[in-house]
Amino acid sequence: MAMTSLERAEAAEHAMSQELDRIVVKSVIYTSGERDPREPLPRQPDQGRLYMMGHDPRLPRMPDKPTLFDFYKYRFGPSTHVLQSARLAKKNGVSEKIVLACLLHDISVNGFIRGDHGYWGAQLVAPYVDEEVSWAIRHHQVLRFFADESYGYKYPDSYIRLFGADYKPEPYIQEAYKYAREHKWYETSRLITVNDLYAFDPNAHVELEEFTDVVGRHFKQPKEGLGFDHSPSAHMWRTMNYPTKYL
Ligand SMILES: [Fe+2]
Ligand SMILES: [Fe+2]
Repeated sequence: MAMTSLERAEAAEHAMSQELDRIVVKSVIYTSGERDPREPLPRQPDQGRLYMMGHDPRLPRMPDKPTLFDFYKYRFGPSTHVLQSARLAKKNGVSEKIVLACLLHDISVNGFIRGDHGYWGAQLVAPYVDEEVSWAIRHHQVLRFFADESYGYKYPDSYIRLFGADYKPEPYIQEAYKYAREHKWYETSRLITVNDLYAFDPNAHVELEEFTDVVGRHFKQPKEGLGFDHSPSAHMWRTMNYPTKYL
């Protein structure tokens, strides 16, 4: 006999509470600093409970074959900044590839790992975009620390507020900057930083759908869904889909 909608809701709730009973162990990287990673993890007795090995019921469930936009909708924090950057890039008349790079440039901050986010973000998208786009995303983070008058790019005031007036980028950033400065794709990456503005118009509301065509033309969505196509970064997308999986 078919279930009534009430029965279905109750069954779903029951399934959810069962799943929540699973033990979630946070990855070391989530807690390192708050606790000393060298110390053994404090563990409560399992009491026969199972460990989280899939979808975390505290999160919205993602479609079986998630697209890039599904990650923006279900796993990323508010994307206002990248959407506004992409719109500004479009308004400034840059190529579609650079508009896409602007749309993607901070996805690691939005949904994965902050530190060295340019590198992580570039790695996430590399299998699906032109090499120039992932190169530009990789280096934008470093170029942000260095002014380039010829593009009207100044050292961000926000960085002085965030890191202090005497912050000096670490040697690896200086080295990466020197390398990027001489590279044939320098301009592409520099243009991300030029359009990388925070809330240039606090009232502007930008929808993801404004970029459906650009993404359609320049981001090769895998038919299996991001995370399930065995690409070199598929595991990173899966980790965002199932961030609490035990193994
Ligand atoms: Fe960034
Ligand atoms: Fe940014």
